Parts: sequence; structure tokens; C-alpha cells
Amino acid sequence: MYRTLAIATAALGAAACTTVTSTALASEPAAPVATETSAAAITYTLPDLPYAYDALVGSIDAQTMEIHHSKHHAGYVNNLNAALADDAALASQPLEDLLANVSTHSTAIRNNGGGHYNHTLFWTLMAPAGEGGAPSTELLADIDATFGSLDAFKTEFNKAATSQFGSGWAWLVVTDDGLKITSTPNQDNPLMDVAAVQGEPLLAVDVWEHAYYLSYQNRRADYLKTWWNVVNWNEVNSLYEAAKS
Ligand SMILES: [Fe+2]
Repeated sequence: MYRTLAIATAALGAAACTTVTSTALASEPAAPVATETSAAAITYTLPDLPYAYDALVGSIDAQTMEIHHSKHHAGYVNNLNAALADDAALASQPLEDLLANVSTHSTAIRNNGGGHYNHTLFWTLMAPAGEGGAPSTELLADIDATFGSLDAFKTEFNKAATSQFGSGWAWLVVTDDGLKITSTPNQDNPLMDVAAVQGEPLLAVDVWEHAYYLSYQNRRADYLKTWWNVVNWNEVNSLYEAAKS
């Protein structure tokens, strides 16, 4: 059973979701504390990071994290709300549903819905170095069986991330045929019906230049090398368990 990111929260009021920790993930589609502008319209808000902007220093500098979260991610949220403002029917659909049928929606919904989903997930997939745990026994066995070893998996994943032309993402997903590594352009993701490889995301890395340029400039491979130090395997394990149950 897939889990659903709790990505729809109140636009107003103290009850707005303030963190994107594992507790922000629900076993069922979230019951959003939504500000209703029509029958069941959903208003999206920017979730707080589950750690400080400088928590990932050594892999990602604080200024990059602050700009990435408070400017880039916030922009996707604002633009998604604007894209849905005049369509009550679409605005009432869970984001995962919009993404699953994204080929029938506007480019604005595709780019900004994807952007909000991807970044909300991405923040939870990182943790301060030393706090992210390790792959579970079950996940590690699956990785070993699929890719040969954890190191071989990382090499393959980094290859997908470095070879993604321009802006985009690299992913580890669960599919009907097992674990797969894939990449997507722009803010596309494997939940979208337009994705070449569709599946449930377990791990994702943002390879837009805004994710690494201040510290690494054009050296995407160097960013990816240190990024593994802040992967939150505890969250990846939880996503794997949910996807396999
Ligand atoms: Fe990004």
C-alpha cells in the first residue's frame, strides 16, 4: 500500500502542518486541515523543514537550503495554488491524483504540482549526517538482489543523476517489476502518467542547479558524492515498508 505525503495543509491558522518529518506521512490520504474556498478545495502551504537550514552543512550549505526552501519551494506552492484557483473540481483532488493524470492538466499544474510534491518528499529524505540510519535488512536485501550491492546501487543512482540533462531528479522507485532507478526532467516525477518509469518513490535527489550551485557550481558529481552523507535511510525504509505492504 502506498503512503501519501501530507502535502495539503491549511493556508491559515495555527494548525498548518509545520514539519515534513515522517509523522507528516500518513497511511491513508491525509485529511487536510484545509481552508475551504469551495466545497472541498485544497490550499497548499509551504511545510517547514524538519531541521535547521544549516543542519546539512558539509553536504549542502545553509544559504542553499534557505533559498531552495523559502524561495524555490515556496514558489511552486504559490504557483500551484494559482493554477488551481479557478478550477474547484481540480482543486479538490489530492495532489497524487492530479499527478497521476497530469497529462490531462495544464503545464502549470505539472510543473508546480510536481515541484511541491518533489520538494516536500526531498526534505524528508535527508537528515543531519550520522542521524539518517542505514538501509533496513529487507531493503538492503532487495538492493543487493537488484543492483548487486549497496555501492553498486549508489553508483547506478549517481549515474542517473549526473546524466539527467539539465534540471531534474533521480529516483529509486518500487515498481511492479521491483526496484528501479530512473530520472525525470524538470519537476516531473514517477507518479506522473507521463513518466517513462512509473512507481512509488523511495529516494530522490534534486539535481537542479539551485540545489547545489552555491557550493559546487557546475560540479554536480561532487554534490552527489557528499549528498549520500545526509540521506535519511530511516525514511527510505519506512517508504519501502509501506510500498511493499
Ligand atoms: Fe529544487
